[in-house]
Amino acid sequence: MSLRDEQGDLRETLESIRIEALEAIQGAADSESLEEVRIRFLGRNGLLSRALSGLRDVPAEKRPQAGKKANQVKQTLETALERRVDELAALSKPAQTAGSDLTLPGRRQWRGGVHPVTLVIDEICEIFGELGFTRAAGPEVETDWHNFTALNIPLDHPAADMHDTFYLDDGLLLRTHTSPVQARVMMEHEPPVRILAPGMVFRRDPYDASHAPAFEQVEGLAVDEGIDFIEFRAAIDYFVHRFFGPSTRTRFRPSYFPFTEPSAEVDVSCIICEGSGCAACKRTGWIEIMGSGMVNPAVFEAVGYDSERYTGYAFGMGPARIAMLRYRIPDIRLLYEADVGLLEQFA
Ligand code: DAH
Repeated sequence: MSLRDEQGDLRETLESIRIEALEAIQGAADSESLEEVRIRFLGRNGLLSRALSGLRDVPAEKRPQAGKKANQVKQTLETALERRVDELAALSKPAQTAGSDLTLPGRRQWRGGVHPVTLVIDEICEIFGELGFTRAAGPEVETDWHNFTALNIPLDHPAADMHDTFYLDDGLLLRTHTSPVQARVMMEHEPPVRILAPGMVFRRDPYDASHAPAFEQVEGLAVDEGIDFIEFRAAIDYFVHRFFGPSTRTRFRPSYFPFTEPSAEVDVSCIICEGSGCAACKRTGWIEIMGSGMVNPAVFEAVGYDSERYTGYAFGMGPARIAMLRYRIPDIRLLYEADVGLLEQFA
């Protein structure tokens, strides 16, 4: 019995041709095999026209329905073929597809990044972490005792002038430096102490290219029996070499802070001109990176440490200035104005 001599059989044949052909069209990997598929199914002697020749044997009253189905299959296959032709063309000529250049980098959504000052703070903490320092934190709203008195700064001392700040009620103020965290940690813990305290500080400073009324500091404090100036220098040298590079030189300049004695400002050889003198180092070849010194025994007394038994060193640095140097950021305000163009570079 011929498969095509009844309408029901013809419908089945057409349906299996449709399914098989669609699969073959989709599976054709290039235009040559697609053409072969076209000939096999839609060619003059193809499966479809051979199936259609069976229409003759369908009873007259059922012929229109069978013919309709045959046309639908033909159309479906022709459409699928055209689509596949386009697809294959697109695959073989990626750069010209639909007027787009597929070799362009994708449009990426910026998901945020780590702020350059945070990068610097984290690196400082990591390096001192290698020397046994851990992170500590204190409040931004401080008592005047922690901010000044415990640190041997009488409120009417000229050293307090630099720390003109924003006063709140009840002897509270916005801390002018991270040094009060020293007092907080020592009130809580017995020596040995080795901490770094990064955080925001506030001063009645102008807002210009090199100043901001709110900025970060990183405080360091080491207290133990037998800590001397040599250990202090060694720690700072270690940090400077790790952070700025092994050829960076360090210079200690005598200075004054009420909470250290002796006190020093630490300079590093300019990382931009390597010491020969440029605009960044104001032609001196040196750049100041921190205030520091051996902890004043008066501070130990204030927090209840035995100042005969313990010694230590402390320092405070400004990571925003360091970030500006390291990343060549010309204006401190760029760091505080959520300038996405700047921040994106640190993603
Ligand atoms: N607190 C000082 C300031 O804000 C910086 C400083 C200097 C911190 C010397 C220290 C230090 O711990 O020993 O200017």
